[in-house]
Amino acid sequence: MAPRRNGVGVQAEDTRICVVMVGLPARGKSYIAQKAQRYLKWLSIPAATFNVGNYRRNNAPHPSADFFDTNNAEGERKRRAAAEAAVKDMMKWFKSGGVVGILDATNSTKERREWVLDRIKGEGVEVIFVESKCDDEELIMANIRDVKTTSPDYVGQDPEQAALDFRNRIRNYEKVYKSINADGDEDHLTYLKIMNVGKQVIINRIQDYLQSRIVYYLMNLHIRTRSVWLSRHGESMLNLEGRIGGDADLSHRGEEYASKLPELVLESVGSDRPLTVWTSTLKRTIATARHLPKHYNQLQWKALDELDAGVCDGMTYQEIADLYPEDFQARDADKYNYRYRGGESYRDVVIRLEPIIMELERSEDILIISHQAVIRCIYAYFMQKTQEESPWVPVPLHTLMKLTPRAYGTEVQTYKANIKAVSTWRGKGSTAKHEDPKPEGGV
Ligand code: ATP
Ligand code: F6P
Repeated sequence: MAPRRNGVGVQAEDTRICVVMVGLPARGKSYIAQKAQRYLKWLSIPAATFNVGNYRRNNAPHPSADFFDTNNAEGERKRRAAAEAAVKDMMKWFKSGGVVGILDATNSTKERREWVLDRIKGEGVEVIFVESKCDDEELIMANIRDVKTTSPDYVGQDPEQAALDFRNRIRNYEKVYKSINADGDEDHLTYLKIMNVGKQVIINRIQDYLQSRIVYYLMNLHIRTRSVWLSRHGESMLNLEGRIGGDADLSHRGEEYASKLPELVLESVGSDRPLTVWTSTLKRTIATARHLPKHYNQLQWKALDELDAGVCDGMTYQEIADLYPEDFQARDADKYNYRYRGGESYRDVVIRLEPIIMELERSEDILIISHQAVIRCIYAYFMQKTQEESPWVPVPLHTLMKLTPRAYGTEVQTYKANIKAVSTWRGKGSTAKHEDPKPEGGV
């Protein structure tokens, strides 16, 4: 069988990994699981999360803290049944082509980890334990208030009561919790231990490329509040003509946008927040950034250059349809995977953007000034857009977008410069030069 190709290169046909989360409640396990899943799916790696809490809610929808006391026999039985059901579904999912399954539960005792390992390894799936350990009381209380008091477990309850009950739930877990390898007898496990949100990490027996990609990604996560601003360059001379690619200068209106951008940025960022600006290496993004305050750090990335249209670079969509009608149709049929002759596909762009995403995860506030296709790919990462949707997302010119990652999702705000520009959005089947996006889509 041919090796399977995916976003992080060529992967052996049979590599399947189960990421088993470990840690006390309110340590960010679901947060980490959800981010890993989003990252992998963005890279076209089939990934899914199996949250044992969701399974438990089927037979114990609103448990109080004592349900989680290990002396509570009924609680123990129901919790075990939920774990069994989640693992069973995950194994079924692996058989249907899943590559990275994430088992999101506390798995906080040695016995439970041994059980998970036996259950999964027997089926030929690699197991990597990811533990989040945190003893910052203030952060734990903030997590409880942020996400636990609004959990379906406490629906209709007073948030203060819910927080108190959740604190007691944690106490029950603490009675039996063992951090991985705390007794020195779990050295055979493959694991990543993240302490106090990455202040310290321990890595043990990481084996292959995909495992190390996952570990590297998770090591770079932080939870400080920050935003990522995205803007396309100002309208270019080639945009005016409806020509794709190239390295043109800004149009008169594009120049106006470049002059207005500092005001738009200051309105959104505030004057006292430091900002780092990333542009592509093409003239139109560098020109768009040039009036921004001098104290902003600026960096040019080749990886942020526009999707390379190969032999079609500099053409209008009509010229492409006339010269390469089959290619034009093939692109519409599968825009994400279509690779221009001598150029790139959206899939190629995502792969070259991986270091950008990694750097974004490590960073604080960043403003990215780039191009239509590249911004669609970055937007797709944050907003979990599918491969069918992402290449068609409208990203209008002369618009600044602010993305703010939250515990479970990303908030979007847009700022219009109110400077006219052509539309470069193109609908399926159309070769129209300056078409307006359908009203339902996008930014
Ligand atoms: P439970 O066991 O109840 O499901 P959990 O460990 O899955 O809890 P989450 O629901 O993921 O906890 O908690 C989310 C909160 O944790 C968010 O507010 C997020 O900012 C925070 N968080 C994310 N990563 C970490 C981390 N490494 N350490 C501590 N807190 C974190
Ligand atoms: O038209 C502007 C542009 O940035 C081109 O340079 C690029 O080829 C195109 O957008 C990408 O958009 P699409 O994938 O919809 O053709």
